[in-house]
Parts: sequence; structure tokens; C-alpha cells
Amino acid sequence: MKMSTRKYFLALLFSLSFLTLTSGAKRKRLPSSAYAVPGTNATYDYLVVGGGTAGLALASRLAESFRVAVIEAGGFYELDNGNASVVPYYSLTIPSLSSSPDYPHQPLFDWDLVSQPQVGGGNRRIHYAQSKTLGGCSAHNTMAYLRSTRGTQDRWAQIAGDDSYKWDNMLPYYKKSVTLTPPNWQKRNMPNATFTYDTTAFNPAGQGGGPVQISWANWVDPAATWLAKCLQGMGMPKSDVGFTSGTLSGFGAWTNTEIDPTTAERSSATEYLKQAIENTEIMVYHQTQAMKINFDNTKRARSVLVSTMGLEYTLSASKEVIVSAGVYHSPQLLMVSGVGPKATLQKYNIPVVSDLPVGQGLQDQIWFTVSSGITSPNAIQIASDPANREILLREYLDDQSGVLSSAGGYLAFEKLPSEFRTAFSKRTASALAALPSDFPEIEYIVTGFPDGKGGSAGALTATILHPYSFGSVTISSGSMLDKPVFDMGWLTDSADTELALAAFKLGPEIAPGSAVQSDADILDYIRKNCNQMWHPSGTCRMGKAGDGKSIVDMTGLRVLDTSIFPFANPGHPTATLYALAEKLADDIT
Ligand SMILES: Cc1cc2nc3c(=O)[nH]c(=O)nc-3n(C[C@H](O)[C@H](O)[C@H](O)COP(=O)(O)OP(=O)(O)OC[C@H]3O[C@@H](n4cnc5c(N)ncnc54)[C@H](O)[C@@H]3O)c2cc1C
Ligand SMILES: *[C@@H]1O[C@H](CO)[C@@H](O)[C@H](O)[C@H]1NC(C)=O
Ligand SMILES: *[C@@H]1O[C@H](CO)[C@@H](O)[C@H](O)[C@H]1NC(C)=O
Ligand SMILES: *[C@@H]1O[C@H](CO)[C@@H](O)[C@H](O)[C@H]1NC(C)=O
Repeated sequence: MKMSTRKYFLALLFSLSFLTLTSGAKRKRLPSSAYAVPGTNATYDYLVVGGGTAGLALASRLAESFRVAVIEAGGFYELDNGNASVVPYYSLTIPSLSSSPDYPHQPLFDWDLVSQPQVGGGNRRIHYAQSKTLGGCSAHNTMAYLRSTRGTQDRWAQIAGDDSYKWDNMLPYYKKSVTLTPPNWQKRNMPNATFTYDTTAFNPAGQGGGPVQISWANWVDPAATWLAKCLQGMGMPKSDVGFTSGTLSGFGAWTNTEIDPTTAERSSATEYLKQAIENTEIMVYHQTQAMKINFDNTKRARSVLVSTMGLEYTLSASKEVIVSAGVYHSPQLLMVSGVGPKATLQKYNIPVVSDLPVGQGLQDQIWFTVSSGITSPNAIQIASDPANREILLREYLDDQSGVLSSAGGYLAFEKLPSEFRTAFSKRTASALAALPSDFPEIEYIVTGFPDGKGGSAGALTATILHPYSFGSVTISSGSMLDKPVFDMGWLTDSADTELALAAFKLGPEIAPGSAVQSDADILDYIRKNCNQMWHPSGTCRMGKAGDGKSIVDMTGLRVLDTSIFPFANPGHPTATLYALAEKLADDIT
């Protein structure tokens, strides 16, 4: 064969093999190729700081069109917190959930944040668990998936001066982020705990749903069925649409949980990442903390100084830096980088890039027990009996059912009925009247627990959904190596204490017993025993320029996480965060 002919055949072979490569099955990316080698400066289109709930959803969608890197201080929860983050029931027993300042430390998984003393909360300092891991708090939470209300989103749109936040405009993004599997009635096996829901609140199977799996747990706590009766006895109607179609009213089965129906394992924001690793060129810098955002002389965010376990280098963004470091760390990172209240920045010799009310406006929902004394077997009692261990494991591992497959039971929402509002001051009455008409004031969660005497007790808890008490986050130095300093401001506004008192009196059997009777005694009990609902928000509020409350007008820089909520939301945050991430990705691309 002549040299030229040979060359021709070689070239032909090469082009044929190229054709097969490109037209054949989609190339699979090695998962390992998604993790960056630390220590080398690099440039991407978008840098997303914080690979948590909102961060991973947004970064993964942006990576479909741009070069994107995620900077995450933590690692992999499946390794660093094991089964406790994966098996639904165990999520209720994660050691670092303790709010005591003597909480068990989980340095690989928890940020070790302890609040300032709560002046309105019995002067307690509260350990506030925040997950340090890919997936963020979606790897730690109780997996309830509850959307916002129509009125809440419409008020959000009004405050932001942007109609795209209205309920009707957000609904497609809520739908786009999740895939719903209907309840498995056979496995739930509790004919007295059936419910209905609005199927139009979701995209049909296989038609435009997202990577996060939601469904109902394959087990129902018998105690919850009795507490549901108790709620009914209190006059609360049963919801027939559930808690995902723009109303939060009445009681129902603890809505759609973030549980993968085929495995009954937690489905967190890492579902987005797994998809992006296969389909895009996303890069992840794990165990890597953002230390400072650098601005150029036009005050445009250009790069981020990062540290992978002490090794410092710089990542640059040709388009934008997006901060999704959570409600406490996002404001801290902005402040150490020069964006925040001028007086605070000057105190720590941080050059001022922009004088904005970063860290103000923290709202933290609290809960307290209003009723107890229901006796019925419950999840904790069943799961903690060693005689049941093998059976429960087999049920879970072989059938994805039983106690271990569930992280919760029932809940309810309402505005307090008029007979409980008579003691409200004028100020409290008008503060509550300012909330949208479909914004519930109180959320009731029903739980069962061992009574310590070999039996079991059920408890009904009340959560204040729109606190009028405000807290704040600030810094104690110019370094991210020091922890943010924060005060949730629990029960420092009389609207909250008046509402708490009224909600407490609604409970048919009073938790602390007959010794606690006077308003002063009840309030004292609530102050000393209330706890966080785990939904802090509002430390980098969204709003209109010039309103004095909002973090606006930065170039090359955005924030996306619970810190941007313009006011505390009655839904639970993850559903709304995923929708916000889908919306922002859509706005950008
Ligand atoms: C115990 C618990 C139970 C809850 N239960 C529910 C529930 O049932 N339903 C519900 O909807 N919500 C629940 N929530 C609330 C919900 O999980 C959170 O509001 C939500 O996950 C917060 O998402 P985010 O994106 O704002 O922040 P996160 O998910 O916390 O993400 C922030 C990420 O940024 C990283 N980070 C921080 N600083 C830096 C830095 N400097 N450099 C790099 N990375 C950094 C963090 O490690 C983290 O991964 C619960 C929360 C907790 C803690
Ligand atoms: C949890 O982890 C252990 C191994 O570490 C395993 O044997 C066990 O079956 C797992 N699952 C459950 C549900 O406990
Ligand atoms: C519901 O059914 C379960 C299972 O039969 C039972 O344990 C529970 O007590 C029932 N609850 C009510 C309120 O009847
Ligand atoms: C990385 O970037 C920083 C900031 O621009 C610069 O000071 C440093 O010299 C760079 N390092 C290398 C190895 O290029």
C-alpha cells in the first residue's frame, strides 16, 4: 500500500472512530474528575461559595451552560455522618442536634456555632447546628417538604418590587426541582392515616421534574394518629390539598418528605450534584473554605481567596461570585470582605466596599410544647427497644419500610381562633393583622416520645411562624477562621410573647402540669424551654434599593440562601430554596 493511501485509510479510520465516539452513548464523566485539585489558581465563569441546599441546586443548573466551581468547607455526609444522615429515622437522633452549649461535637459535620445568651429565652446560650458538608442543612434536616403560601409569595414580590416572585410565577420552579412519588398505601399500612393531596402541584412522572425525590414515608407513627384526633378535637379541619399547593391550613400527614421512594434514603441537594457530575463540567472544591471575596477598583467582585485545610489560593470568576454559605456564614463572609455596616467594618479595620445592613433582620422561629399526655406506642419507643432492632433493620433494608423509613408524622397550621385572641394588645393585634390572610400564625407538630416510666407520651408543639423579635449576626474579627457572633433575639418582642401565651393556652393538657398557671409562670416556662425550629432567615434580605433593610446593588456578586428571605416564611425553607435556585439559574441563562 502506498504511503498516501495508508494515510488516507488511517485518517478515515480515525474519523470513523471519532464519529462513533460522538454519536454513540453519551460520554460518562468520571466522578473523580469533578473534584478539583486544590492549591492552583483557576478561573471559572461562576463561583458558588457554599455547596449547601441552595448552592448545589444553583451551581448544578448553571453548570449546564457555564464553567462553574463550588467552594464547600465540608466533605461528604455519607462518610462524615454515616447512616445518621441517610436513614430517615436516625436523622431525629443526630447527636449535634442538641441545643445545649455542652452538645456533643461533630467537627467533621457541624460548624460548632453557639449563640449569644438569649435574653428573652431564659438567658440560655444555644448550640445552633449548621451542617458543614456537601448538601448543607439538607443533609441534616428532618426532611419535611412544605412550600410557601400564595399570599406569602405575593408579599415577597411586593417587597422585592418584582412580580416574578409571585406564587403563580414561582410554582413552575417548585415543580421543576422535585420528582414526586405517590404514597405507598400498602407499606404505610395505616388505614386510619390516609390523606389526599393536590396532584396538580407537581409535574407528572417523567415530565420535567427535578432531581430531589419527594414522597411520603413508608411508615406512620401510631402516636401521630392519636395526636391528629387531638387536633381535630381542637377544631382544626383536615387539609385535603396537603402543604404544597399554596395553602398551609388545617392538619395533615407530614407532607412530602425528601425521601427517595425506592431506597427510603434521604434525598438531599447532592442529588443535583450527582446529576451535574454526569452531565456537566462542574468542579467541586471540598474541604475548602472561602476566606474573602476580592473586589476590583470598580467594586466588582472578581475572585475568592480560598483555603483547603490551610493551603491558600485564589479562584477567579469571569462572570459572578454567588454566596450560598447559609444564614450565619453568608453575612460573615460579606462583612470580612468589606460589605456590611460601616461601623462594624471600621472597628475591625476592614476597608469598606459597600455600607449595607448585612447581618440585620435575623428572624428565628421557635417552638414549645403546648400539650402532652397522649399514651400510645410511638416511633422512639419502638425503635429504642433492643428486642425490635433486628426486625426493624430487616424491614428497612429489605422492604424500605418500618420505623427507620420515617422521620415524622403529622402537622397542622392555623391562625389562632378569635376566642384565644382576646388578650392581645392593640399593637400585637395589628402586627398579626399585617400578615397575609393565608399566612398561618402557628404551626403544630405532633410527636411521640417515651415518658421515662416505661410508657410513652405524645406531645403537641407550637411554632411561632412569623417572629416579630429580631436578631442579628456580626463578626468578632476580619477572619473567617473566627466564628460569626449571633443573637436570635428570641421572645424579645411583646407580639411574640402574647402570641406564645395564647397558643400555649390552646393545648388541652398543659405540659408542665397544674403548678404552671399564671401568665407569668407560663411565659417563664416558655422562655426557659423553647427551642429553635431550625428555620433562621433574613440576614442578607432581598428588597428594593434605598429601603434601608436590603442587600442590593452589588456588581458581580449575588447571595442565594435562606439569608435572602425578606421575611420569615411559613413553609419550611428547603422547598422554597430549591425553587429559588431554579428560578435564578433560569434568570441567568
Ligand atoms: C436540624 C434541622 C432540621 C430542619 N428541618 C427542616 C425540614 O424538615 N424541612 C425544611 O424544609 N427545612 C428544615 N430545616 C431548615 C433547612 O434545612 C435549611 O433552612 C436549609 O437547608 C438552609 O439552606 P441554605 O442553602 O440556606 O444553607 P446550607 O444548606 O446550610 O448551606 C450552606 C453551605 O455553605 C457552607 N459554607 C459555609 N461557610 C462557608 C465558607 N466560608 N466557605 C465554603 N463553604 C461554606 C456550609 O458548609 C454549607 O454546606 C432544618 C434545619 C436543621 C438544621
Ligand atoms: C448502618 O451502618 C452499618 C455499618 O456501618 C450497617 O451495618 C447498617 O446495616 C446500616 N443501616 C442501618 C439502617 O442501620
Ligand atoms: C390507627 O391504627 C393503628 C394501627 O391499627 C393503631 O395502632 C392506632 O391506635 C390507630 N389510631 C387511632 C386514632 O385510632
Ligand atoms: C494566585 O493568585 C493570587 C491573587 O491574584 C496571586 O497573588 C498569586 O501570585 C497567584 N499564584 C500563582 C501561583 O500564580
